[in-house]
Amino acid sequence: MTILSPADRAHNSPFSAQPANMPERRPFARLPTDVSPVNYALWLKPDLVDFTFEGKVEARVQVSRPATNQIVMNCADIDIISASFASGGKEINATGFNYQNEDEKVTLSFPSALQAGSGILKIDFVGELNDKMKGFYRSKYITPTGEVRFAAVTQFEATDARRAFPCWDEPAIKATFDITLIVPKDRVALSNMNVIDRKPYPDDDNLLEIKFATTPIMSTYLVAFVVGEYDFVESQSSDGVTVRVYTPVGKAEQGKFALEVATKTLPFYKDYFNVPYPLPKIDLIAIADFAAGAMENWGLVTYRETALLIDPKNSCSSSRQWVALVVGHELAHQWFGNLVTMEWWTHLWLNEGFASWIEYLCVDHCFPDYDIWTQFVSADYTRALELDALDNSHPIEVNVGHPSEVDEIFDAISYSKGASVIRMLHNYIGDEDFRKGMNIYLTKFQHKNASTEDLWDCLEEASGKPVAAVMSSWTKQMGFPIIVVDQEQHGEDSVLKISQKKFCASGPFNGETCPNWMVPISICTSEDPSRPKLTMLLDSPETTVTISNLGPSQWVKINPGTVGFYRIQYSSTMLDSLLPGIRDLTLPPVDRLGLQNDLFSLLHKQADMQEEKNRIERVLGAISDAELTQKVLAFALSVCVAHFFSCR
Ligand code: BES
Ligand code: ZN
Repeated sequence: MTILSPADRAHNSPFSAQPANMPERRPFARLPTDVSPVNYALWLKPDLVDFTFEGKVEARVQVSRPATNQIVMNCADIDIISASFASGGKEINATGFNYQNEDEKVTLSFPSALQAGSGILKIDFVGELNDKMKGFYRSKYITPTGEVRFAAVTQFEATDARRAFPCWDEPAIKATFDITLIVPKDRVALSNMNVIDRKPYPDDDNLLEIKFATTPIMSTYLVAFVVGEYDFVESQSSDGVTVRVYTPVGKAEQGKFALEVATKTLPFYKDYFNVPYPLPKIDLIAIADFAAGAMENWGLVTYRETALLIDPKNSCSSSRQWVALVVGHELAHQWFGNLVTMEWWTHLWLNEGFASWIEYLCVDHCFPDYDIWTQFVSADYTRALELDALDNSHPIEVNVGHPSEVDEIFDAISYSKGASVIRMLHNYIGDEDFRKGMNIYLTKFQHKNASTEDLWDCLEEASGKPVAAVMSSWTKQMGFPIIVVDQEQHGEDSVLKISQKKFCASGPFNGETCPNWMVPISICTSEDPSRPKLTMLLDSPETTVTISNLGPSQWVKINPGTVGFYRIQYSSTMLDSLLPGIRDLTLPPVDRLGLQNDLFSLLHKQADMQEEKNRIERVLGAISDAELTQKVLAFALSVCVAHFFSCR
């Protein structure tokens, strides 16, 4: 698990296209479905001194016919003390707990077959508040008086709820949760839902028993609880949700910016999806020891301190932008991921790719002066193109099974390429149909699970466009195309010859059959550089299009807004014709950025250095920004030096 800071996103992210040392695929089977949970009543009593916890779960389950005498569930690093099954007024004790440690499962055996229908499975267990930042773990903090103390916190995604309580730990096995925490009376205790009861714990005067409201039906990886010392700032969003930002003691001020973002963001998503936020409250909390950047637990979002807190006196605008993006990302998951959940981890890319795209839409809405889409292009989009051009990239959609494989796919291909192809799709079908399709999807599958194809079907229904066919070509194949464009003038008309081939960083594609993409292409001219004059879907290796009434001095630009996930190689004449638009800045910044990035990447691949040097000089002369010029120069110089040495 890794944090994505803004710098990571732009430069040397620890996320790589292909995780190094990818382990061998391990045999894996999903849980049997003959016993499935409906509700978990869960009691947990963490010991913040000894770093252990005691737990009890009473799961209301449904047993299907023919009845079994075994229950298989997930369990890791937990010791079960006793287990029993009750139904129809009869209770039987489990006679054996068979732990399959490699598979993170336990099989409970009963002396007779369980009665089919509804029953209650009771399990008493103990565990360790570990220091591994997963499952139910301890997080160290220093009090304002300099004392070292520990909080107990959770991180369950992807497959670590099983380290806090025995459960059916798969995203499609949803149930409701009634959580009770037994905690020292001077500590804050939080969970997904609001507190409904707080009373003294019978066995110990220093403890309180805190009961939370029943959750909606949800996946185990979104369950969360926190016990520690925190201050908070609170506000109410315009749609009536209580929002709190919890900070370390004495730092409540630093939660104010995130509070502002969250109270603006909730109504934005409610309006965008036309689906209300279904819980009465949402807490955002800064955790001292946190492995990821942030985690979207339903109603209790956990953050690394740097992804949530802003010191009003000492913070730069890039830190504020980062906090806004992370808050926008995790709150998007409250709908996309939490309300409608991926059926299996294979669809994780959609969860993360979608949130990584819409966080920008949300920040652009809440803070238009950030010009945040330019940042998307310079960070996520260009990074995804760079990684995905490598021979060791992988398709967005990968089949995963064993837990060890799931963590591997939280990478830049899922996040940044995922976000980029969703942005391309949004542009292809347009905002109105996209929103309509999102509403169909979230309404149809709310409180259920869905697959990537389900989303394509809903967007197809809303737009009437071949969304599934287009998107499959981007998610099931690795890499992307380079679009080669040439222009010929036929009287008043301009004829463009457009073709596609796979773009490889290492040189020309030399595999057997070149893959083909269904490429949404838009074309603009100098008449209006920000609005497409023509849009088309390139679904073959090559085609021609005619632009009528194009004056001799007008230029043609492919991919306005740099929204298509491909590179473009213009003929020299076309590239030359773009120079006036670059010089007088009528070509918008994201277009100049995209063009410059394409030229850089093409430089690597050109044998004829002189011609390429001329191209660089032309772009250099045109791009007047001093910093950019310096970068281009340094790069061009390094290419020339490399060429010089390779010739000798
Ligand atoms: N769901 C993830 C958190 C996560 C990441 C859990 C990896 C388990 C493994 C969360 O929504 C997320 O994507 N967090 C990002 C920050 C985000 C703004 C891109 C992270 O933690 O880097
Ligand atoms: Zn996410």
